[in-house]
Amino acid sequence: MFWLAYALVFLGCLGLPPADAAVVEHTFSVGNLTIDRLGQRQVITAVNGQFPGPMLEARDGDAVVVHVVNYSPYNITIHWHGVLQRLSGWADGPSMVSQCPIRPGGATYTYRFNVTGQEGTLWWHAHVSFLRATVYGALLIRPEPDRPHYPFPAPYGEATLLLGEWWNASVVDIERQAMLTGGPPNNSVALTINGMPSGYELAVRHGETYLLRLVNAALSYQLFFKVAGHVFTVVAADACYTDPYNTDVIVLAPGQTVDALMHANASPGRYCMAAQVYQSVANATYTTTTTGLLRYEHGAEAAGMSTIMMPSMPEFKDSATAQDFYGSLTGLLRDGKPTVPLHVDTRMLVTYGLGIAPCMPTQTLCNRTRGSVAASMNNVSFQLPKAMSLLEARMRGNADGVYTRDFPDRPPVMFDFTNGSMSSNRSVMLTSKGTRVKRLRFNTTVEVVLQNTAILGSENHPLHLHGFNFYVLAQGAGNFNARTAVRSYNLVNPQQRNTVAVPAGGWAVIRFTADNPGVWVMHCHLDAHLPFGLAMAFEVDDGPTPDTVLPPPPPDYPQC
Ligand code: C2O
Repeated sequence: MFWLAYALVFLGCLGLPPADAAVVEHTFSVGNLTIDRLGQRQVITAVNGQFPGPMLEARDGDAVVVHVVNYSPYNITIHWHGVLQRLSGWADGPSMVSQCPIRPGGATYTYRFNVTGQEGTLWWHAHVSFLRATVYGALLIRPEPDRPHYPFPAPYGEATLLLGEWWNASVVDIERQAMLTGGPPNNSVALTINGMPSGYELAVRHGETYLLRLVNAALSYQLFFKVAGHVFTVVAADACYTDPYNTDVIVLAPGQTVDALMHANASPGRYCMAAQVYQSVANATYTTTTTGLLRYEHGAEAAGMSTIMMPSMPEFKDSATAQDFYGSLTGLLRDGKPTVPLHVDTRMLVTYGLGIAPCMPTQTLCNRTRGSVAASMNNVSFQLPKAMSLLEARMRGNADGVYTRDFPDRPPVMFDFTNGSMSSNRSVMLTSKGTRVKRLRFNTTVEVVLQNTAILGSENHPLHLHGFNFYVLAQGAGNFNARTAVRSYNLVNPQQRNTVAVPAGGWAVIRFTADNPGVWVMHCHLDAHLPFGLAMAFEVDDGPTPDTVLPPPPPDYPQC
């Protein structure tokens, strides 16, 4: 009865898309795919037998409908990374936050949402366990049909490059092993470009300009990307236009995207492109690189230029280059588009990083003296609920037993956050577990200082917020100091993103307006850090008018 009532209300409020908007409809059949990589045959989880999965292409204003059918042996959800999901939080996808997973054995769920007021490169990925290692694809949003122009000269061609990671093993086993030991998961064995550890080729015409749509779909690594002999003009990041920024290296943290123009104006020939790990952890030694080929269509052979030039890559710990890139982007101001809010209603200081927690009984391989690696925000190690998603509990108006509304606005103790010697202070290292959310009234403007800690080592963590783009006002090294930092705030044209790579042992200040009712998780996009608890959630109240109220869930909303 309960669901029937909701089903009827839902059908009643299905708005029709504007006349020129299209419906982009797909079926995603999730299942096993046998695939050969690096000389090994293995079975992965994939969509429609494709790896990477199908590309979704829409125009600003379109409605997207994706019927997901789960024939895989695992629970599945799909997240549309960076889609704002205005009033469509039911389609957001993080398991146990916006929905219960779609069960194996052919269960289905249809994701319905509009892409409105967004243009550029986004992507979709599984949002349950480590499955996004192979369940991911691009989601491109082009300008509206009646306004077919980018705010930059139209490129001659474009190419989408999904950068990922590859394991010679089942990622579900990798995750299980990490859970049992309470330690980090095994490293991948290769980086990939469009699913290939090597062999990707892009053919270009001399003299033309190409729009490269880059996505960092890796689970654990930030990346430097270069093409030998070529420079780029960055024009967007996370599907938010930027002022044109010229660079010969692009830096992307997991979750982030960059749209960059590349001018094919080198002498015709063959040039290597390379993606290489950027490692921000002080003692880390692991690095890897993958290469692809940029090939000029005419002239290469004729000119006898068979040399494949390798780009000179930054040193793998080159934080200066990474920070230079991240800190140089500014947002493109456009007529009629919102700008950074100048009034702030709610201020938060959120420390985050690694920590420890007592081993759980299920962690049979966990070192009892050391404890399990945990991660936290304001010392709360985020636990996903088991019986009902956060969003469903919000809708039922009863959070009891699912979550509490006491996520702290400040860390429980103030200490020298970025001082490495704190790592040995057990009282600072110990995290508390909880499913604690920060409640926000509709339309509140929130400013959050994100402060990395040095507990168990500082690291550049890519923090991703669902349901919103935020402005990045400033970032810096060491402990945040309001007095000095405020002077560096960009309140004119700050970049907008959905994922900010906060400097290792440093801080960033973000600002957003909570104008999208629902429950929205903010978490580290290094995939191992989410089960460790590096997350929190915002619960945003409904607004005062019918069009600012989250509609009820669709009739096929999965049940736990
Ligand atoms: Cu791309 Cu919550 O994730």
